Parts: sequence; C-alpha cells; structure tokens
Amino acid sequence: FHSGLLAGKRVMITAGPTREALDPVRFLSNHSSGKMGYALAEAAIAAGARTTLVSGPVTLPIPEHAQYHPVESAAEMLETCLRLVSECDIFIACAAVADYRPEQVQGDKIKKNDAEMLLKLVRNPDIVSAVAAAEPRPFTVGFAAETRDLLAYARDKMQRKGLDMIIANDVSDQGIGFNSEENEVTIVCGQTEHALPRASKTIIARQIIEAIANSSGK
Ligand code: PMT
Repeated sequence: FHSGLLAGKRVMITAGPTREALDPVRFLSNHSSGKMGYALAEAAIAAGARTTLVSGPVTLPIPEHAQYHPVESAAEMLETCLRLVSECDIFIACAAVADYRPEQVQGDKIKKNDAEMLLKLVRNPDIVSAVAAAEPRPFTVGFAAETRDLLAYARDKMQRKGLDMIIANDVSDQGIGFNSEENEVTIVCGQTEHALPRASKTIIARQIIEAIANSSGK
C-alpha cells in the first residue's frame, strides 16, 4: 500500500446505517456501526485521495482530513450524494441504507392503544443506483451484504445497480460484517473474483482501495 495510490482523485464514501423516523422519538434502523466505511475513508485519505464521507449516525471519531457530511435518513443521504456526485471520481457505497421507511412520520409520539399495530412501509430510493446513473458518473463500487448465495446475489446486485465493482460481504457470521472488528469479503469486478482472507477492517479497507486504484483506470 503506498501513499500516492489515489493522488489527485476524489473519493466519496457512504457509511453507517440510516434512520427512518416513525415519530419524534422512534426510528427503524440496523446494526451498521460505520467501522467498514470509516476504515475505507481512512484508507482513501492515506492513499492521497480527497475524501468525502457521507455518514449515517454512528459513534466513531470523524477521520482527520475527511470532508464530513452527517445525514440521518436514506432520503437525506441520497440528496447529499447527488449534490456532490459531480465532484467525485470514485464512489463507494458502504452504508447499510434502509430499504424501506414508514409511509407516514407522525408529528406526535405514537400512543399505545391496541394489542397490535400495523406499520406501512414504502420503498426507499436506491442511492448507489442513482449515483451509477449520474452523468458524468464516477467509478461506482457497491457492497452486497448477504446471508446466503453470496457471490450469485452479489453479481446480480452489481448488474442491476449498474456498478463497476461489488464487495461481497457474508454477514451470516457474527465475527465479520455488521458491527464487528474484522471482515472477510470477495472483490468482484468484471469476470474476476478476489477473495480476501479474514482481517481487521483497516486491512480489508486498504486492500479494497488498492483494488479500486488498479481497476478505476488510475
Ligand atoms: O458498518 P459496519 O458495522 O462496519 O458493517 C459494515 C457493513 C456490513 C454494513 C458493510 O460492509 C456492508 O456490507 N455494507 C452494505 C450493507 C447493505 O445494505 O447491503 P445491501 O446488500 O442491502 O445493499 C447493496 C448496496 O446497495 C450497498 O452498496 C448499499 O450501500 C446500496 N444501497 C442499498 C439500499 C439503498 N436504498 N441504497 C443503496 O445505495
């Protein structure tokens, strides 16, 4: 890993979960800690890239030298990414974006009444697909978090979302993936597949940044 790998390049990374509000005090979310996305931001910065981090709510320190954009919901994350997309050469979607949000956000705290409550959810926009469809478009990298048929689902997501590369992340094992210190991924780009052995997210991030530098025409 050397420090000039992405010199002169502008990288935008999404990280962490999104929060989809139900009422003023409640939300739907997931277990993403932001560790993988923040490690990618650190690695991009170490590789010499001008790095923008669009982050959902996490408790990690902001990486030094990152252009930091905190967001909450998927809608806000999309708006921020589309506003900044023309200023980036490489986009990495590491955030665990909520696929659905409550159809209505209640203005007041929801009261408990009945024994059951039905919640109607509507689809959120797909951020990485929107970025991949932008003009001009950055080299676009997604993640695929899967609990089974990892590589088949990852390839399918890469194609459907119009991505240049996808990082297949097995999240069925508690020691890797969501909210863990380590990860184990397979980098899929075109017909090639490169499996990285289990390692800290810092090391995995550097290997992903190297693969992106090699494949993105730098
Ligand atoms: O944050 P950590 O605790 O360190 O955990 C890291 C991680 C497991 C969250 C990370 O490595 C990871 O796999 N991130 C992607 C999680 C995810 O939501 O995957 P997905 O298979 O549901 O989504 C596929 C891709 O589409 C992802 O690049 C995702 O960012 C993107 N997406 C999904 C939905 C949506 N509405 N918009 C999107 O851009």
